[in-house]
Amino acid sequence: MRVIPILPVAAQAVANPAVPSGLPAPPPLALYIHFPWCVRKCPYCDFNSHEVKHDIPEQAYLAALISDLEQSLPHIWGRRVLSIFIGGGTPSLISPQGLDRLLADIRARVQLSADAEITLEANPGTVEASRFQGFRDAGVNRISLGIQSFNDQHLQALGRIHNGDDARRAIELALRHVGNVNLDLMYALPRQSLAECEQDLRTAITFGTPHLSAYHLTLEPNTRFAFDPPPLPDADLAADMQERVEQLLADAGYQHYETSAFAQPGQQCRHNLNYWHFGDYLGIGAGAHGKLSDAFGIVRETRARHPQAYMEAVNAGQAIQERRPISHEELPFEFLMNSLRLNQGFHPSLFQERTGLHLARIQTQLQQAAKNGLLSLSSERIQPTEQGRHFLNDLLERFL
Ligand SMILES: C[S@@+](CC[C@H](N)C(=O)[O-])C[C@H]1O[C@@H](n2cnc3c(N)ncnc32)[C@H](O)[C@@H]1O
Ligand code: SF4
Repeated sequence: MRVIPILPVAAQAVANPAVPSGLPAPPPLALYIHFPWCVRKCPYCDFNSHEVKHDIPEQAYLAALISDLEQSLPHIWGRRVLSIFIGGGTPSLISPQGLDRLLADIRARVQLSADAEITLEANPGTVEASRFQGFRDAGVNRISLGIQSFNDQHLQALGRIHNGDDARRAIELALRHVGNVNLDLMYALPRQSLAECEQDLRTAITFGTPHLSAYHLTLEPNTRFAFDPPPLPDADLAADMQERVEQLLADAGYQHYETSAFAQPGQQCRHNLNYWHFGDYLGIGAGAHGKLSDAFGIVRETRARHPQAYMEAVNAGQAIQERRPISHEELPFEFLMNSLRLNQGFHPSLFQERTGLHLARIQTQLQQAAKNGLLSLSSERIQPTEQGRHFLNDLLERFL
């Protein structure tokens, strides 16, 4: 893939013929903020997160985030931000005072929707009542808790800094102080049995949180688990677990709306839905990605991954490391890679609204996928079938 270096704002005004222009309207805009430090690096994790060696340079990092935002303002001028997601890493390590200042500084610079969803990812090993209350007072109205499991042995095998009791306490506090809570769980854990997986789900369900995410543990390249794999459930057992997870959550009234996401009616994550609808998002912070549309096309942006390199780049006025236009050829795949993760798929008109391309461009592949039982097509929906969801990669490859 060709990498286009960041251009000065004036130079970007020269439209690139390789990218689409003239979307009917700007897509909804979200803001992602990355916080790249954790107490300890988990052996399965390939996110841009770094173990805290000494102190976190909180003040310098928060200042860099605001400078990054200021450098990005010309790209989102006049547009309203509908949601904020502060992810990591472990953003619950930020002091409530620091978070309060960060959100106030953001509000002073962008037009934040009055009912914006503002999510903070939190690790159950880093929270207490006063911190949750402080986050809430700062404006956070949704907490995503990295529970993973309630089983102490499994938590230990995952290298987590919390145990099952910490997990339960954190959920109760998050529900009491913030209310709108997501639990992240993982299954197919080292040496996990089907009964243990079910027990985790049953425990999670008792809290009645509006949202639950259940991820199949994957061995990501360049993680400690990839170098030294633990004994994992085989494919058949993992598939049984997935089936049980989906059944238990359905029985408890959760709607399965995306590959790994389950919500009580009306409680879907607005920020993530915007990604899956191929909306726009500005990503600030170390290693953050963004996707933005303007009159000249649709671009992907990246920032330097290492926190120190990121802060230095921002201070030199070079927050954005790369801006790469997404070409006409790439757009259908990029759009479908997001929208077909949704069990409901998408309305046919969304394709043109978000890509600027006519749906006729992919008609042949759509028809073929429907013929092969992977998609269902109607005037109202383009939706993956159960088989299509199961073989999502095969389905997507047809649009490459
Ligand atoms: C961005 S991570 C950060 C959450 C937070 N730092 C924590 O771990 O408590 C979001 C979620 O992705 C999931 N996850 C991370 N690595 C994974 C992997 N290798 N396989 C499956 N799920 C993973 C975990 O459930 C995690 O809570
Ligand atoms: S706490 Fe979360 S982000 Fe940090 S290393 Fe563990 S899984 Fe990754």
